[in-house]
Amino acid sequence: MSDRTTIGVGMVGYAFMGRVHSQAWRSVGAFFDLPLAPRMAVLAGRSKERTEAAAAQLGWADVETDWRELVKRDDVQIVDICTPGDSHAEIAIAALQAGKHVICEKPLANTVAEAEAMVAAAAAAQGRSMVAFNYRRVPAIALARRFVEEGRIGEIRHVRAQYLQDWIVDPEFPLVWRLQKDKAGSGALGDIGAHIVDAAQFITGQNVLGVSALTETFIKERPLATESAGLGATGSAARGEVTVDDAALFIGRMSGGAVASFEATRFANGRKNAMRIELNGSLGSLAFDFEAMNELWFSTGGGGFERILVTEPDHPYVGAWWPPGHGLGYEHTFTHEIKDFLEAVATGADPSPSFADGLRVQRVLEAVERSAADGSRYTNVED
Ligand SMILES: NC(=O)c1ccc[n+]([C@@H]2O[C@H](COP(=O)([O-])OP(=O)(O)OC[C@H]3O[C@@H](n4cnc5c(N)ncnc54)[C@H](O)[C@@H]3O)[C@@H](O)[C@H]2O)c1
Repeated sequence: MSDRTTIGVGMVGYAFMGRVHSQAWRSVGAFFDLPLAPRMAVLAGRSKERTEAAAAQLGWADVETDWRELVKRDDVQIVDICTPGDSHAEIAIAALQAGKHVICEKPLANTVAEAEAMVAAAAAAQGRSMVAFNYRRVPAIALARRFVEEGRIGEIRHVRAQYLQDWIVDPEFPLVWRLQKDKAGSGALGDIGAHIVDAAQFITGQNVLGVSALTETFIKERPLATESAGLGATGSAARGEVTVDDAALFIGRMSGGAVASFEATRFANGRKNAMRIELNGSLGSLAFDFEAMNELWFSTGGGGFERILVTEPDHPYVGAWWPPGHGLGYEHTFTHEIKDFLEAVATGADPSPSFADGLRVQRVLEAVERSAADGSRYTNVED
């Protein structure tokens, strides 16, 4: 029998992120030696029938049909928020005020004001809090950061980041919540642009100071969504307005002197989840593409790039998994995130990325929107 302390988890939302987080909660203790053993206590949704079915499939012991009941429960010490951005602030603040630890999906909130309120609640709370920028936990991205910290590419001059998908190219794809500003905050910008801003800041250790931005909405109206909110959603005959950006492009300055370019779109035909980042430094370069997530490319000039297969036991997180060359996938990044979160909860350390890191990304997103609205004028990221 394990002598580890059990800690109860309550999760809100059970669709895409809910499923992948459930996988992480289920598997983390089987692969990592943890100070705390998570117990998947409660799943919250809105429909009793659907929430019960999801709980049975995903491994949750009980259900609630209102997240407010979940955050009050004594058998819940960690609240995991897997809902769209319009509910992050309300759930996270209530959970922190109820003395819970909180892990919240990205982007932290839909506005800077909400994110600030979440940071204030986190600062006043006993519990730990983390925003779920899972790409920090891709072994190749963690290795890229290690290379930068070790000075292996020298002084960074260029950051080139893209996040390219193609799932809304079809103008008949329905108006799901990700295409509605009141639910999602913004479009490609907050959904996937947030990830590359966080990854760029994480790998380089530099913050984005200011941006010049362009956003575009290619398809202005779409069929209203009927059944599912996910990628398999279906549309009805009635149409509604798309109220978010379809693509966001921006250049920026980083605090360590690098210049950066960012591109986020869900209209890049053929690109499925091409989250890419390339750094050029005074001594070398690093390049990564999530569509080949077990590889990091490294160059010191001369003969082009060398491919590093990031599956060796001394690479970040990899030692807990399979023999060299056997590869990890998307879900493992969440398992790593949960592992790091549980360790922070156990030691009382601040998890990374914190809510403050999430706010920093939110401020960049807001500067992008202000710049785009102002004819791409260079716009400082506000403190
Ligand atoms: N880290 C990543 O790579 C990544 C990937 C996708 C989504 N996300 C983020 O995760 C969050 C959820 O996205 P998703 O793709 O899982 O969305 P989704 O549409 O697949 O699932 C959303 C879930 O939230 C539930 N929900 C909505 N409002 C609720 C409420 N008030 N109370 C209870 N449940 C409610 C829905 O019923 C559904 O179960 C978003 O913030 C999104 O940006 C992160």
